[in-house]
Amino acid sequence: MAMVERVFSGVQPTGNLHLGNYLGAIVNFVKLQENYSCLYCVVDLHAITQGVDVWGGPAELARNTREVTAAFIASGIDPKKHIVFNQSQVPGHAELTWIFNCVARVGWLSRMTQFKEKAGKDRENASVGLYDYPVLMAADILLYRATHVPVGEDQKQHLELSRDIAQKFNNDFGDSIRGHGFGDGLFFPQPEPLITGPATRVMSLRDGTKKMSKSDSSDNSRINLTDDADTIAQKIRKAKTDPEPLPTEEKGLETRPEADNLVGIYAALSGRPKSDVLRDFGGGQFSSFKNALVELCVAKLSPIAAEMKRLAADPGHVDQILIDGAERANVIAEQTLKTAKDIVGFVRKR
Ligand code: TRP
Repeated sequence: MAMVERVFSGVQPTGNLHLGNYLGAIVNFVKLQENYSCLYCVVDLHAITQGVDVWGGPAELARNTREVTAAFIASGIDPKKHIVFNQSQVPGHAELTWIFNCVARVGWLSRMTQFKEKAGKDRENASVGLYDYPVLMAADILLYRATHVPVGEDQKQHLELSRDIAQKFNNDFGDSIRGHGFGDGLFFPQPEPLITGPATRVMSLRDGTKKMSKSDSSDNSRINLTDDADTIAQKIRKAKTDPEPLPTEEKGLETRPEADNLVGIYAALSGRPKSDVLRDFGGGQFSSFKNALVELCVAKLSPIAAEMKRLAADPGHVDQILIDGAERANVIAEQTLKTAKDIVGFVRKR
């Protein structure tokens, strides 16, 4: 029997989850369950890499960790068939990061564009953890020797770095790896990105050129996964549009970012291509399209919001999911880590 390939992905518990997180990542996680053996990780170690003012402090971290977990479950991720856990409960992530810190080069990390963006002008004052963030991400993936990683465009450079780290580890320790029974000298695989389909980049409802973001000061710019039906309806009705009727063909969306975004959201939520959506709504006014969009959003999102609410009221249950997941993740992680340490030459009890 062919071995089932392994998927790993992570979501940071750093604040309200919104439609962009759902359509850009979680929907895809749900689909991948059919064909892969999946690990979905709430990356709390990553969450603390920026200042405490950014991640919100201990109570927020715990709340957000449980909320991401609840969103996974409410969206249809099966924590029994697959593994859902939080990163800090599996010590191997931090341990493998240290080994990789000694494989990755400073030059590689200093080219990471996300570090430059997040550190901003005051780079001297960024945490060492923020600089090291991509190495921890490589450890996340390779600790399970995952072969496929669903990531958005913004994480592609980090995934490249994971491939470079895997390759350099394999090169640096080639003889030792072969000596430990890996005849091809390949201990870590080269993880492949699984780029999500089109129309998954959800933009702000107030500005179609900006990504929908938890840090936008206007709550009207995003649909939170916990928003109730009235709030969703209000936000969509207020969403920015332009005075033209909807085009009948996709080409007509090219210079109209707000129209493109709303049609993209409709397409993604209904699982149809944008051209199909325009066949139904092209030539019509925004107001009637928005009514249909409200209906669709509420139909798709309110069961998720309801389940998240139910889970928020039962944190013990959510914690138990994470504990079970961490235990099962740890079995795989320990195996990789043990072999990796042997390959490096660390002495241990046998
Ligand atoms: N850096 C990712 C993000 O912010 C989250 C992440 C952490 C991740 N570790 C990962 C994603 C491993 C994929 C694989 O989106």
